[in-house]
Amino acid sequence: MTQLSVNINKIALLRNSRGRDYPDPIGFSKRCLELGAHGITLHPRPDQRHARYDDIFSLRKVCDQYQVELNVEGYPSDLLIQKVMDAKPDQFTLVPDAPNQLTSDHGWDFKKNQDLLKKVIDAVQPLGIRVSLFADYNNPDYQVAKEIGADRLELYTEPYAETYEKQDSEIVLEGFLNASKKALDLGLELNAGHDLNLENLQAFIKHIPSIKEVSIGHALIVECLEMGIETVIGKYLEALKG
Ligand code: PXP
Repeated sequence: MTQLSVNINKIALLRNSRGRDYPDPIGFSKRCLELGAHGITLHPRPDQRHARYDDIFSLRKVCDQYQVELNVEGYPSDLLIQKVMDAKPDQFTLVPDAPNQLTSDHGWDFKKNQDLLKKVIDAVQPLGIRVSLFADYNNPDYQVAKEIGADRLELYTEPYAETYEKQDSEIVLEGFLNASKKALDLGLELNAGHDLNLENLQAFIKHIPSIKEVSIGHALIVECLEMGIETVIGKYLEALKG
């Protein structure tokens, strides 16, 4: 079954808005895990406007306690690489974000960035950290990601979410299916994320059951406000059965 990694950034954003530790990303993460979520994701950005670097270390402890995976995402700056090497999350997802970017909005150009990506992969993999690269479904260069040693690709799902139940939805979904076949043929595993929600997730997983993990934050937190955390995590786990 595809694993649900809950992205905790929005809880960290609420916490930061008051300068104290309420709501507490640790407590919220534990609640998600007790309800059956399979892992936790954190995406610190350089300005630490939501997730902070120290959250990586406290959530590492939570994930150890619950024996689940911690996924850290972000642009591989020297500082983030060092934090990752110190905290040793199970997975490091490299994202080509500019420092002040609102949210991730594209995957890597593998050819252009292969030296940087390979340097990071070579540094963290020996520590037992799996490396996933954020990828556009229509990127023709998955071969390069394989050659530089990536373990997984995380498919950027905004184009799927954007067209869901609209005119081009079948064409786009077909594109994602082809991308997944290409990656799997090369021996790359697959994650997916961005703009997934309770409405669009199940159809995606039904078409591409080979996705190992989805990381979901923004919509999941909004849905928790609307429906309550117990209901929402339960519904996600149901949707992930495909
Ligand atoms: N994957 C990556 C690389 C991201 O940057 C984000 C957003 O932080 C997500 C997944 C989760 O996206 P969303 O918050 O829309 O669920």
